[in-house]
Amino acid sequence: MPTPLARGRSADVFALDSGRVLRRYRDGADVSAEAEVMAYVGGLGFPVPRVDSADGTDLVMERLDGPTMLDALVSGTLDPADGGRQLADLHTRLHALPARLSRDPAVRVVHLDLHPQNVMLSSRGAVVIDWRNATEGPPDLDTAMTALIMAQIAVDPAHDLAELAAAGVRGFLARSDGDPRRALDEAVALRAADPNLTRDEARLLPAAAALIAAPE
Ligand SMILES: Nc1ncnc2c1ncn2[C@@H]1O[C@H](COP(=O)(O)OP(=O)(O)OP(=O)(O)O)[C@@H](O)[C@H]1O
Ligand SMILES: [Mg+2]
Repeated sequence: MPTPLARGRSADVFALDSGRVLRRYRDGADVSAEAEVMAYVGGLGFPVPRVDSADGTDLVMERLDGPTMLDALVSGTLDPADGGRQLADLHTRLHALPARLSRDPAVRVVHLDLHPQNVMLSSRGAVVIDWRNATEGPPDLDTAMTALIMAQIAVDPAHDLAELAAAGVRGFLARSDGDPRRALDEAVALRAADPNLTRDEARLLPAAAALIAAPE
């Protein structure tokens, strides 16, 4: 019987053995599209878990050691400005790759959920997980989504991590390539349409967008 390891908003993750995990969607979603993206970017040297099999709701992949970037930020082993810069660098590396499907040079693989809980600081470096939303599109949309996700926490006065998130957004925006502000409206619309967003989170979207538009 696999051992439960973690529970995300949409998936349960089980340890299969010391080297592999099973990630299973609870909502019946199919993993084949994200497994293809992971295999594609992994083959080009981008840090993702090795995919062993993808079948229906189940993805079997390399088990990563180390904390998530969020855990490292919360425990204080990672400075938020550094975390923001690391996230920006992961975007830069991802967007440097040619798209898998599109022939339009402005279109790249985009993750669209590249926040500190979806980065694991493993012994082989920062590795990006949770490719459910991955698709192809403008890199600015990807960076706008990351900035927006962090800004939603930064502008929430009730959130314990608000200050950490604000420092993370500043570090991220200062280091990001392109201009996330160009895709901010589209990112707000995408985020607003996310069924996993709570009503409180949705209410903070305009303030979060304003923080990115004028971060100082
Ligand atoms: N390959 C892996 N190795 C070790 N732990 C993992 C791995 N993949 C995921 N995890 C753990 O499981 C958690 C949830 O994974 P993931 O983000 O893929 O699920 P999710 O349900 O899509 O999450 P979200 O809540 O972001 O929607 C991660 O934060 C991490 O702690
Ligand atoms: Mg996740």
